[in-house]
Amino acid sequence: MNVTVIGTGYVGLIAACCLANSGHQITGVEKNLTKLTMLQQRQSPIYEEGLVEILTKVIDNGSIKFTDDLALAISTTDLVIIAVGTPSLSDDRVDLSQIFAVAETITALATRPLTVVMKSTVPPGTGKMLIDRYFSQCSQEISYVSNPEFLREGRAVWDWYNTDRIIIGTHNQKAANQLNELYADLAAPKVHMDVTSAEMVKYASNAFLATKISFINEIANLCEYVGADIDAVAPAVGMDNRIGKQFLNAGLGYGGSCFPKDTKGLRFIASYYGYPFSVLKAVMEVNSAQKIRGMRKLLTALDNNLYNKRIALLGLSFKPGTDDTRESPGLDIAEMLISEGALVQACDPLALASAKTLLHSEQITFHEAPYQAVAGCQAIILATEWPEFTHLDWQKIKNSMQAPYVLLDGRNAIPKESIKNLGFHYLSFGRQTD
Ligand SMILES: NC(=O)c1ccc[n+]([C@@H]2O[C@H](COP(=O)([O-])OP(=O)(O)OC[C@H]3O[C@@H](n4cnc5c(N)ncnc54)[C@H](O)[C@@H]3O)[C@@H](O)[C@H]2O)c1
Repeated sequence: MNVTVIGTGYVGLIAACCLANSGHQITGVEKNLTKLTMLQQRQSPIYEEGLVEILTKVIDNGSIKFTDDLALAISTTDLVIIAVGTPSLSDDRVDLSQIFAVAETITALATRPLTVVMKSTVPPGTGKMLIDRYFSQCSQEISYVSNPEFLREGRAVWDWYNTDRIIIGTHNQKAANQLNELYADLAAPKVHMDVTSAEMVKYASNAFLATKISFINEIANLCEYVGADIDAVAPAVGMDNRIGKQFLNAGLGYGGSCFPKDTKGLRFIASYYGYPFSVLKAVMEVNSAQKIRGMRKLLTALDNNLYNKRIALLGLSFKPGTDDTRESPGLDIAEMLISEGALVQACDPLALASAKTLLHSEQITFHEAPYQAVAGCQAIILATEWPEFTHLDWQKIKNSMQAPYVLLDGRNAIPKESIKNLGFHYLSFGRQTD
C-alpha cells in the first residue's frame, strides 16, 4: 500500500520504518527541518534499539522517503497515518492544535479518496469531532479510523512486531479491511470497534498501568512502616495471573511522554463530563508525592541541608533505553536539588544532549561516565535504572565519594548484595537491606 505517515517522532518514525520494512511504500512527512534533514541523510533523530538498521535498509531499498510536502505526499497515497504530538496544556487539557492543523490541511488538499488513521493519542470523542468539523467537509470521501499505538519507548521496534493487539476503531468496512491489510504480517489479534471506544482503550490502558505503578509505590511505602520487604511482596503479588508481574516496580514513580499527559487528559475529560474519577486523581497525587518522598529521604540523610553539597544524579531519560527526557523524574529531581542549593553532577548514557537544553544552572555539570559523575559526591541518586548504572563497581564508586556515602536508589534496582557491607547509607522504597 502507498502510505503517508505525518510526524516522524517516537511513534511515527517507528511506524513508518516498520511498515516500509513490511513492504509498504511509505512517505514520512516531517515539518521539523532539522529532523527532516537528518532523516534524508539516513540518520535517526531519536534513539531506539534496532531502528537505525531498519531505517537504513528501507531507505536503501527505496521503500521509504521523507518530505515536508504534505500536499504532494497525500496526492499519491491511499492511507494517511497521523502521528503528531498531543502534549498537555497547562490546565491538563490535551493540546490538539497539531491534530487540527493536520486535519485542516488534509481536508483542504485531498485530491482523491483517503483513509485517515489516527495513531496519535487523542481524547475519546476527538475522532467524531474531527469528522464533523473537518473530514465531512472535504471534497473527497474520507474514511476515519482510530488506531492507537501501544509501543513502549526503549522497546519500540520489538513492541511493533510483538504487540498484544491492534485496535481498529471504525464502522467503515472498507477502511477496516485496509487496516487488516496494512498489518497483515503482524500476528497480533486485530480488534474491531467504534472510533470512540478505540480512543478510550488507549487512555484506559495507560491509566491502568499508571495505577499499577502508584499502587505498588503505596504498598512499598507501607512496607517501610510495617517492616515488610517490597522485594518479597511485589513479585509474589505479580505471580497472580489476574494481576501480572509487570509495572510492579516501586520507586520514584512514572514519567515520560505518555503516562503523565494521558492521566491528566483522561481526568480532564472525566471532569468535563462532571465525573470525578477519584482513582485517577489519587494515582496522579501518589506519583507526584513519590519524588518528594525520595527527596525527603535524601534530606534526612544529609542533615536537612543540601546547600553546596555534591550530589550525583544518575539518569536523566525517563526510562532506560531511550534518549527521551519528557516529564522525566530525573529532571524533576535535578530541579529540586538545584533549588535546595546542591551541586549536581548528572550523568546519562543517551539523554545528556536533551537534558542540557532543559536544565540551565551553574549548579549542574554533565558527565559522560558514571565514575566521573560520582567523584567527590556525598550522595548519589539513581533516577533511571540504566544497566550502565545498576551494575557499577560500588566499591570503586564509594572510594571516590565523600562521607556520608548516601545512595538513594530511586528505582530499587541496585543489586542489594553489591551494596551490603560496603558502608553505604542505602535508601530505597520499601526494601529491606539488613
Ligand atoms: N512516545 C510514545 O511512547 C508514544 C506511545 C504511544 C502513543 N504515543 C502518542 O503518539 C503521538 C506522537 O507521540 P511522539 O512521542 O511520537 O511525539 P513526537 O513529539 O516525538 O513526534 C511528533 C512529530 O510530529 C511532527 N509534526 C507535528 N506536526 C506536524 C505536521 N503538521 N506535519 C509534519 N510533522 C509534524 C513533529 O515535528 C514531531 O517530529 C502522541 O499523541 C503520543 O501521545 C506516543
